Amino acid sequence: MTLTLERGDLILNSNYIAGRWCEAADGATLTVSNPADMQLIAEVPDSSAEEARAAADAAHEAFAAWRATPAKRRGELLKRWHALVMAHQEDLGRLISLEQGKPLVEGQGEVLYAASYIEWFAEEAPRIAGEMIAAPVAGRRMLAVKEPVGVVAVITPWNFPAAMIARKIAPALAAGCTVVAKPAEDTPLTSLALVRLAEEAGIPAGVINIVCASRGRTPEVVDAWLEDARVRKISFTGSTPVGKHLARASADTLKKLSLELGGNAPFIVFKDADLDAAVEGLMAAKFRNGGQTCVCPNRVYVQDAVLGAFADKLAVRVAALRVGPASDPASQIGPMINTRAVDKILVHIDDALTQGARLLVGGERVRADLGPNYVSPTLLADVAPAARLCHEETFGPVVPLLRFEAEEEAVAASNATPFGLASYFYSESVSRIHRVADALEAGIVGINEGAVASEAAPFGGIKESGYGREGSVHGLDDYQHIKYLCQGNLR
Ligand code: SIN
Repeated sequence: MTLTLERGDLILNSNYIAGRWCEAADGATLTVSNPADMQLIAEVPDSSAEEARAAADAAHEAFAAWRATPAKRRGELLKRWHALVMAHQEDLGRLISLEQGKPLVEGQGEVLYAASYIEWFAEEAPRIAGEMIAAPVAGRRMLAVKEPVGVVAVITPWNFPAAMIARKIAPALAAGCTVVAKPAEDTPLTSLALVRLAEEAGIPAGVINIVCASRGRTPEVVDAWLEDARVRKISFTGSTPVGKHLARASADTLKKLSLELGGNAPFIVFKDADLDAAVEGLMAAKFRNGGQTCVCPNRVYVQDAVLGAFADKLAVRVAALRVGPASDPASQIGPMINTRAVDKILVHIDDALTQGARLLVGGERVRADLGPNYVSPTLLADVAPAARLCHEETFGPVVPLLRFEAEEEAVAASNATPFGLASYFYSESVSRIHRVADALEAGIVGINEGAVASEAAPFGGIKESGYGREGSVHGLDDYQHIKYLCQGNLR
């Protein structure tokens, strides 16, 4: 079966700036291919600083009118966008699978996930409110009002080409900000399609602008926005080194930042856990998008008493996973995004084996009949704490099992990382649940639950996993500042 789109009009080959679909001024392009078979899907503009500046000009010009648009109206336009995304769920899901590689069912699921953020912030927009403060002196009225920060630069990764851009643009627009966006080089098509639907929904010209760029040209696009004092905020999802660079480079214009960076999530299974539920939770958390998520468990700590039973149950499930392209509806694990990603995963597996790990399932580079971007789902036992798998984000379908004896040992090992995005643990003991949830250093804690993502929840990390929260009632805060109004001489 070939993966095709039913409606070709969702594959767009242009930037969108000031309400116009346009090429890069110098005509440069970059190619987008399917990681399943390396086949070319489309060419999109490879933009330069010139397009980045034009996008910022457009967003700046559109800002005054957009912020003055009543929040209720902004919400209505977001609702229309949401409806169009839902109406195109099938095609968008296929497009995600085509350019990113995830199985069809996950592509479809990501469209729902992306749409849920648009709907959530459509509903939050009319609820934007400030506060009246009880004045400590007579004759004064004191108010705190929320204002949009201004133009926001949105820089998104390849692993969730729809959800990441939706959960940044939707709150920005709800708050009254305008946007310049740059999707990942590997997966720009879904983002362009979403912006096309936003245009169709009636979101005015200049409110959303999007430019595509290759890895080589991304620095000049992003630098143009970093240097531009009119760009008041950057919202970035990606690696910690790039996040740190953006934080440093934003210092000159003191931009507000939301940084959703790398993770190194622990997953702890205590001896009092429901082991079947823990296996289920781990499968859901670890193998979503083939392990290419920031929140997927990177290290699995299992208490001695249940290690054997847990490993046996898990091995059966991991060995049963079907690897293959999204064009095969039976596939559960698609290709990795590119061959570099595969190389890194295999280096991590080799490193663990060299340090004494035992291979329980998988570990091979590819299935012979598939392309170069596939790794078989892998389960390793007796992984040494010093292994790279335990310190670096592997971003692939690999589960390293580590043993522990005491609760404090598991918590200390979990926290022994500069990262702090997600963490998970399974236990049926109420007191342990409270203790461990308090002790884990992470922005997100899954307790007897592996699927934690939700538009209603504040998503984000601590430590070197970044700052800022996406989704939930807190998701608008990052796109607003508070202005204090003090009125004196009240009579
Ligand atoms: C990510 O991997 O960056 C996001 C994952 C999610 O939203 O659940």
